[in-house]
Parts: sequence; C-alpha cells; structure tokens
Amino acid sequence: MKKTVLVSGGAGFIGSHVTVELIQAGYEVVVADNMSNCDLTCFEGVKKITGRDDIPFEKTDFCDAAAADALFAKYPIDAVIHFAAFKAVGESVAKPVMYYKNNLGSFLNVLEAAGAHGCHNVLFSSSATVYGEPDVVPVTERSPRKPATSPYGATKQMCEDILRDTVRATAGTPGEIKGILLRYFNPIGAHPSALIGELPRGVPNNLVPFITQTAIGKRECLSIFGNDYPTPDGTCQRDYIDIVDLAKAHVCAVARMMDGKMTEGCEVYNIGTGRPVSVLELVNAFQKVNGLKLNYRFAPRREGDVTAIWADPSLANKVLGWKAGRSVEDTLAAAWAWEKHLAGK
Ligand SMILES: NC(=O)c1ccc[n+]([C@@H]2O[C@H](COP(=O)([O-])OP(=O)(O)OC[C@H]3O[C@@H](n4cnc5c(N)ncnc54)[C@H](O)[C@@H]3O)[C@@H](O)[C@H]2O)c1
Repeated sequence: MKKTVLVSGGAGFIGSHVTVELIQAGYEVVVADNMSNCDLTCFEGVKKITGRDDIPFEKTDFCDAAAADALFAKYPIDAVIHFAAFKAVGESVAKPVMYYKNNLGSFLNVLEAAGAHGCHNVLFSSSATVYGEPDVVPVTERSPRKPATSPYGATKQMCEDILRDTVRATAGTPGEIKGILLRYFNPIGAHPSALIGELPRGVPNNLVPFITQTAIGKRECLSIFGNDYPTPDGTCQRDYIDIVDLAKAHVCAVARMMDGKMTEGCEVYNIGTGRPVSVLELVNAFQKVNGLKLNYRFAPRREGDVTAIWADPSLANKVLGWKAGRSVEDTLAAAWAWEKHLAGK
C-alpha cells in the first residue's frame, strides 16, 4: 500500500514543489494550508503537473489544535513534512508575537496530533539561518548554531530543539517519533513546467522574485544591499539551491525515515549546493541566460545580512544519496519563465 505524507503549508512555494516530487515518487500526499501566505495557484499547478485531480486538500490552520488533530484522525498519515510557518525575517522583527505564536504553535500542534495518531515520522523545514554569521565556511551540520538575529530565526532554532526533545522523550515508546531537520540554504527558481513557483505577496523579501519582478517591470529597480563586503566582488555570497533539487531532498529524507534506515532518532542535513555565488554573480547570470538588462543599483548594507554562507552538503550527498544537480543558469531561466507565466506572457 502507498504511504501517505501530510504536507503542512503544502500550497506554498516549497510545499507545492515537494508535493509534486512526492507524488512522482509514488507517495500519497495530503496537502493542508490555511492560505495565509498563498492562494490556490500553485496547488492547481501541482494537479496539472502530476495529472492528479484528486489530491486531498484541506484548509487547516495548524494553530488550531482540534483542526490539526482532526486531520490526523481523517487520514492514515505515515509522515508529516512541516512547512506551515511565517518566513519573513523583517516582519518577524516587527511582529514577534505573531511569529512565535504561529511558528511554534503550529509545530506543537502537529507534533501532538502526530503522537496521538501513531504517525512516527516528522520532517521539519529548518534553515541555514540557524548558523548565523559563521566563523568558518562552508558550514557543516556540526558548525555551531549562533544566537538568532531575528524572531524568525529563533523560531527555527526552537522548533529544532522541540523536535529533538520530542524524539528523545518518545524513544522506545509506542508513540516513538523520529525526526529529520533539513537546513535549507537559499531556495530559488521554479518548476521547469512554469506552472508552480514563488508567489510573494507585496514586496518580495527574497532576491530572485525581486529580480524577476524588476525584469518584468513590476518593480523599477533592484537594490543590491552592500558592495563593500570582504568577498571577491564586494557583494554577499550565498548558496542558491534550485527548488526542484531541494524538493527531491525531501523525498530522499522521507524514504529514509519510512524505510527504517535512520541511525539516529533525529538527523540533521544541510541542503545546499556547496557552491558560493555572490548576489552580483546571480544578477549577472540572470541577465545573461535570459538575454535581459536589469535595472539595479548598489544600496547600503542591510542590517542582519551575513557576509557569506554556503553549505558543506557532503552528509546529505552521502547518507541521503541526494545531490543538487541543476545549474544556476537553468534555475534562473525557470524563475523567469514562471514570472512570465504569471504575467500571462
Ligand atoms: N523560502 C525560503 O527561503 C526558506 C528558507 C529556509 C526555510 N524555509 C522554511 O520552509 C517553509 C516553507 O517556506 P516557503 O518558502 O514555501 O513559504 P510559503 O509562505 O510559500 O509557504 C508556507 C505556507 O504555510 C502556510 N501557513 C503558514 N502558517 C500556517 C498555519 N498556521 N497553518 C497552516 N498553514 C500555514 C502559508 O499559507 C504558506 O502557504 C517555512 O517553514 C520556511 O520558514 C524557507
């Protein structure tokens, strides 16, 4: 019988790409989302890509404990991938209570409901933000976590700890929970079909939607924050990971859990390419691959931005059997195709 995976926050950017990959790998998927940061565009796209019109969709707010419990009662859920969270760093600084309430509350309810209904496998979407400004790059999973610089980052660290504690407390009991923490670096791009992608509400917080919106004329000018960093071209360096590659990492992790291959109760993996790319290099690559000229300017540094961070992904390469495969050029072409799709071009 097919295994069932609940994807919380599954109508969002990462969740929709993960849903596609899970279905294509032969899993049943239940998508649940409260629609606080999305509409049905991506879910409809997922149905088209997979040719599946019958994917269960539940409008569920995971901060509602009874609703979370009802979901686990309704479906035979073997594993849950938890994406349901707010993710804007700046907004979290302005609205900390809203962030702690949503990101912690939703995860606690998922864990409680999973435990109550015999779901033993929990995958949490964490972030490279837990490493803060690293002393040494690339970062490995053993690199120290630094004090969070925003409430958003704090919620990621706290949820990591909550999952670890839950794994420890339930080990060897009938309600045993196994956990995997995937620490994403910078997910970018869109599905090659251009039917799903990033759909920011209002002014984008992430670089690539800002680039594509500037290219299409929705924004006048892209600001590159800081060109005086101690990096080769003065702009920040990041590890940009293609969204489809990132999604495939989830399938590998879920399979490892379901197949009973985990060697620790709670495992952690960096999900990145291992290649640093500067903001300016990314902008230039976007222009080149899409044959466009982008209106951009250099602006002062932005508070909270780390100079350079990229992953050592060798653990995920070795243990999960996963490796980032798509080139930055292909990824940026896909992001541009998605923006044009949104504009009906
Ligand atoms: N995109 C990134 O750069 C990035 C990097 C690292 C980690 N993450 C994490 O990955 C996860 C998914 O990110 P994304 O980029 O797809 O964001 P997203 O906003 O597109 O997706 C999150 C989804 O969760 C839903 N949601 C939020 N709170 C909810 C709740 N209480 N109940 C039900 N649904 C709820 C939203 O409506 C949204 O559709 C988040 O936890 C985010 O923190 C994202």
